[in-house]
Amino acid sequence: MIADPTLSHWHILGAGAIGGLWALRLHSIGCRVTLVERAPLSPERHLQLTDNSHTSCHDFPVVAANAAILPLSPLLITTKASDTLAALTPLLPRLNAGDTVLLLQNGMGIDDWLRQQRPDLQILTAITTDGVFRPTRDHLVMAGHGETLIGGDTAVEQEAALQIARQWQKTGEAVQAVADIQRRRWQKLAINCAINPLTTRYRCCNGALLDMPEALFAMQSICAEVAVVMRLEGHPASTASLFDAACAVARQTGTNTSSMLADVQAKRPTEIDFMNGHIVTMARKHGIDTPANARITAEVRALHPHPAGSN
Ligand code: PAF
Repeated sequence: MIADPTLSHWHILGAGAIGGLWALRLHSIGCRVTLVERAPLSPERHLQLTDNSHTSCHDFPVVAANAAILPLSPLLITTKASDTLAALTPLLPRLNAGDTVLLLQNGMGIDDWLRQQRPDLQILTAITTDGVFRPTRDHLVMAGHGETLIGGDTAVEQEAALQIARQWQKTGEAVQAVADIQRRRWQKLAINCAINPLTTRYRCCNGALLDMPEALFAMQSICAEVAVVMRLEGHPASTASLFDAACAVARQTGTNTSSMLADVQAKRPTEIDFMNGHIVTMARKHGIDTPANARITAEVRALHPHPAGSN
């Protein structure tokens, strides 16, 4: 497909499973897409997606994060939250005031950090329930088509989210701009906080948590604390609604290995600081303790050395 110059030229930082998926989807509707990497292994990456029996592929140009590549906007960030600061820091001086940055990743906290560093950027956030895994670095396999929600905090950002959602809908995927993205991100965070670290504690698939009374008790304690923090942050939430939602997702994704357990098994840093660790940090800001989240955060952090000085 020949790139349509009237469509956005997307730059994607962190083309793993979700980033690679959106690279191929955006290419399929005629967008130019460039991958941005900290240390590119080659000037091009051949990404391939298998979706049922259909395969699509493309060679994408790759540029180094510290090379002079302007303009970078719109920039889609799909790095794992734990890798984002290191990946994004060299790009910050290359972003211009008003540039659009869309964060599509698990966990919370990176958008706050980015707003502090660069209040002049247009920062949007997104969540997705798309399921995709990578048997090899550049081969993506679609596990299930989900929904992607995009939003911003100001009226201008919401308008930008709407424009992006309209463009992304051309891929045929379920994409929506929503006015309450922060509430939805908190709900997703609650589900991740209740499932991911416990699959690590019990070394089990998501669904197995539902068969263990001690795991269910821990899920409930985590949800109760998240609900308190959510309410303090201005988002309505109850222990029961978060616990029920977490149980439903654990059931729906019953045979999945959670992303956190996959990280632990592969000896990679986990996203615990951007999930339960974020709850602990936000709770402290409000002057309260969240012992269940603090305990599981410490437990998961102990599995992998974290850089000195981080949370
Ligand atoms: O991070 C994950 O693994 C997923 O967000 C979820 C929902 C827990 C399913 O595995």
